Amino acid sequence: MDKLVIEGGTPLSGTIRIHGAKNAALPILAASMLAEGKMQLRNVPRLLDIDVMLGILARLGCKAVHLGDVVTIDTGSADSSHVPEDLMKQMRSSIFLMGPLLARFGEVCIYQPGGCAIGERKIDLHLKGLEALGAKIEEKDQQIWCRASKLVGTDIHLDFPSVGATENIMMAAALAEGTTILSNAAREPEIQDLQNFLNAMGASVIGAGTDTITIRGVKRLQPCDYEIIPDRIVAGTALIAVAATRGTVTLTHCNPAHLVALLHVLRRAGIQIGATNDIITIISSGRPKAVERIVTSPYPSFPTDLQSQIMVLLALADGLSLMKETVFEGRFKHVDELVRMGADISVDLNSAYIRGVPRLYGATVEATDLRAGAALVIAGLAAQGKTIVEQVHHIDRGYDRIEMMFQRLGGAMHRESPALKQLDLA
Ligand code: UD1
Repeated sequence: MDKLVIEGGTPLSGTIRIHGAKNAALPILAASMLAEGKMQLRNVPRLLDIDVMLGILARLGCKAVHLGDVVTIDTGSADSSHVPEDLMKQMRSSIFLMGPLLARFGEVCIYQPGGCAIGERKIDLHLKGLEALGAKIEEKDQQIWCRASKLVGTDIHLDFPSVGATENIMMAAALAEGTTILSNAAREPEIQDLQNFLNAMGASVIGAGTDTITIRGVKRLQPCDYEIIPDRIVAGTALIAVAATRGTVTLTHCNPAHLVALLHVLRRAGIQIGATNDIITIISSGRPKAVERIVTSPYPSFPTDLQSQIMVLLALADGLSLMKETVFEGRFKHVDELVRMGADISVDLNSAYIRGVPRLYGATVEATDLRAGAALVIAGLAAQGKTIVEQVHHIDRGYDRIEMMFQRLGGAMHRESPALKQLDLA
């Protein structure tokens, strides 16, 4: 297993370009199955989760090539609607294939998805939404079969604005007969990106970005070329790392409008931020101030995907901060690791009380999930001494070689890979 070795204490400085959004690219790759033919998707990040999705699409019969940040995919040859169990277990986002495969083939077989262990992560809202469009669901020996001779548009209200359920329903409804009105929909920027992609293929979807999305079904969709939006969570992770190391950095190819909640928290912590169209400059000097209370909640509130990273900054701040996690029930696994690095954090149910300390100290720590792993990298960059982050494969699911991003900004870190060591010896 790869490890990241970090020598902390260098303020980050310089300029970096932010890569495309994993959480936009994954549903868009799944949605490409709604049309038959060749298309080009640009700004697709090179990540483990994208490899898994491309692996599934290949097993379904598509031809896909990822060169640089461009994926060229031909969905015309797809001939299977059975998502392979081994790949389904590797990544929760494989669930995105339900809506498109059901709409295209009239049936889909999936398994309970795997993914980061950050909570129960049910799929009931996905299934209820597809049922409302006319699908019959049957669960048998771990398999979930979903069948519909035709899908018919209807009114659907989500009990919770689930990102994935909103996307699955949008994709299935795009080829349904009649109109679907989806209320209490998730409002994340990635949902707007999916709407734009579906419309570029000839769909009729409006309202993404608000809590009501209207999808007028069309008979068929056409292949198209499309560019994925920048990754707001990668941009947020970089900003927090700069703040924690008290550095000065410019991010390019990002969208400040997608990061309003984080930028507000950083400013409350006393950090200077300048933002224009697609550039953010951050200047951090001196100890950050504590932020009294942050609550994670669906967009546009503070994102759960930046909760663990911002906790590192609060762990170094002057004063007491409270972090409340309301989206996932198991998302404080990084706390024990941060405490091992000298942080003073106590957890009570879904609240973490963070008493800032003047410094963290390097230690050997374990990434338990994707964003927790990113938080430990930030802690290592800010800490005094050497940190080793283990279980790096979690981080590789969502960051394109995170060590290179921080090396470019002067961070002293490198990857140790047993596979590479063996090659050295040979
Ligand atoms: C997406 C993001 C993930 C982010 C999350 C919340 C992608 C690929 N992943 O995940 O990075 O952390 O949004 O912003 O876009 N729930 C149910 N039943 C369901 C579906 C969800 O109870 O059928 C619950 C979940 O257990 C969780 C909450 O709803 O507690 C949020 O989940 P959801 O918004 O669906 O997140 P994902 O789409 O899995």
